[in-house]
Amino acid sequence: MQGRHHVGHGIQCGYSASTSSHGIMERMNNVQVYDPAKLQPPTGKFNAIVALSDRDGGIGNKGTLPWPKLSKDLEYYQTLTSFTTDPSKKCVNIRGRLTWEAGTAAVKSHPRRLNVVISSKMAKRPEHVHHIAKSFEEALSWSLAAEDAENVWVLGGSNVYKTAMSSPLCHRVYVTRVFGEFESDVFFPEIDPEKFQHVRDEALVDTPFEENGTRYQFEIYERKPVVQ
Ligand SMILES: NC(=O)c1ccc[n+]([C@@H]2O[C@H](COP(=O)([O-])OP(=O)(O)OC[C@H]3O[C@@H](n4cnc5c(N)ncnc54)[C@H](OP(=O)(O)O)[C@@H]3O)[C@@H](O)[C@H]2O)c1
Repeated sequence: MQGRHHVGHGIQCGYSASTSSHGIMERMNNVQVYDPAKLQPPTGKFNAIVALSDRDGGIGNKGTLPWPKLSKDLEYYQTLTSFTTDPSKKCVNIRGRLTWEAGTAAVKSHPRRLNVVISSKMAKRPEHVHHIAKSFEEALSWSLAAEDAENVWVLGGSNVYKTAMSSPLCHRVYVTRVFGEFESDVFFPEIDPEKFQHVRDEALVDTPFEENGTRYQFEIYERKPVVQ
């Protein structure tokens, strides 16, 4: 249950009650989640992406997500974690074994992805897995050395995020903050406000959405520059 009650501590989501009227939300549902003309590949050695509950940082429940399907969030996740400027290059996606097993066939088989799974139990590479790593460090060094990779994403789960965010090479954490209480058995660790700050990216929408009664919004936390 690590990370429970920590998310948002010191880092506030910036959600404004004045934007929560249902009419505005409905109009927001027609908004694209990104501007294709402005989208740039992520900078830094690697980035992480997560959807979490604003109440307790819940990210998973019984091997799946705690909330009903959020199609705009899925579009955002799919776009960012497979976007390259060079069409011959790919995005490395690093996941723990359970997150890999929870993924859909469409996510696993995407041609622009190189899939790295962290596991001590996987003996044989399943279909669409490009590398099995015994540790996060091994996963990262394989990913950073992969010749056909343009960028590297960390996709969870809980311990993998924790180790990733403790690395100075983790540039940004892309958070989908889902408003509400959901039954969860896996939680996101603290985003350390000493190390990360809330930033905006002009290519990405950060206004709230609502789908099937669930409200959520996209936020970006970026590693603070090191003061010499
Ligand atoms: N909301 C979101 O954005 C989001 C993102 C990701 C996942 N999830 C959800 O979270 C749940 C899965 O996450 P989880 O935290 O339970 O599991 P996980 O991190 O995906 O997988 C855990 C497994 O990964 C391997 N592993 C992880 N860290 C390792 C390390 N440092 N060294 C060696 N092996 C390591 C181990 O595999 P072996 O047992 O094979 O050794 C471990 O049992 C699911 O419910 C999923 O849907 C949600």
